[in-house]
Amino acid sequence: MRVLVACEESQRVCIAFRNKGHEAYSCDILPCSGGHPEWHMQEDVLPHLYEDGWDLIIAHPPCTYLTVAANKYYNVKKYGTKAEDRGIERLKAMNFFFEFTHAHCDKIAIENPIGVMSSAYRKPDQIIQPYQFGHRERKATCLWLKGLPKLQPTNIVEPDIIKHKSGRTDSRLHFETLKLPKEERSRIRSQTFEGIAQAMADQWG
Ligand SMILES: C[S@@+](CC[C@H](N)C(=O)[O-])C[C@H]1O[C@@H](n2cnc3c(N)ncnc32)[C@H](O)[C@@H]1O
Repeated sequence: MRVLVACEESQRVCIAFRNKGHEAYSCDILPCSGGHPEWHMQEDVLPHLYEDGWDLIIAHPPCTYLTVAANKYYNVKKYGTKAEDRGIERLKAMNFFFEFTHAHCDKIAIENPIGVMSSAYRKPDQIIQPYQFGHRERKATCLWLKGLPKLQPTNIVEPDIIKHKSGRTDSRLHFETLKLPKEERSRIRSQTFEGIAQAMADQWG
């Protein structure tokens, strides 16, 4: 299969498909950290969505302005122009997400955390967790699917929950990356879990 993994710098999904003999490419505006620049396109992914010849597109569009966690900061009465600017960024992020729904491909998976796209687009076809794929992490991840079956859990384990002194709880990855510089922290936190990448290659490849 010719597979495009859009918005992927880690190459985890790309490598899982390559290991199964597929012609997979990752594409991201960032350089790849997965060690296979020969399979990576470091550029804007949008023109590639309208090329013919992809058998499968798996997309991980940026979610910074799409999650509901920071919803209160969109209140213009309270936060003024900062909230207006955030609103504009959210609209741009929504437009970018919608591009993947129009891509020229019969099989498409779009991945994002729980957020505004569940109402702006439609409810996701499924919500998966890393702890269903062998990682002791909790991170609800939505999948919007076209022409693909739901991903079946491969190895359900107990999530490892860290309890702060304040009583607040955290996933281990979230806790262990707290002290990283902001950009590095978000890059590491948004990398696809290997168990999920493997399940995609095994079940959709
Ligand atoms: C939420 S992260 C997904 C990371 C991915 N799960 C991984 O394992 O590498 C979103 C990614 O989209 C990339 N991105 C943003 N705009 C892009 C564009 N126009 N074309 C390609 N990639 C883009 C960002 O650089 C970022 O790496």
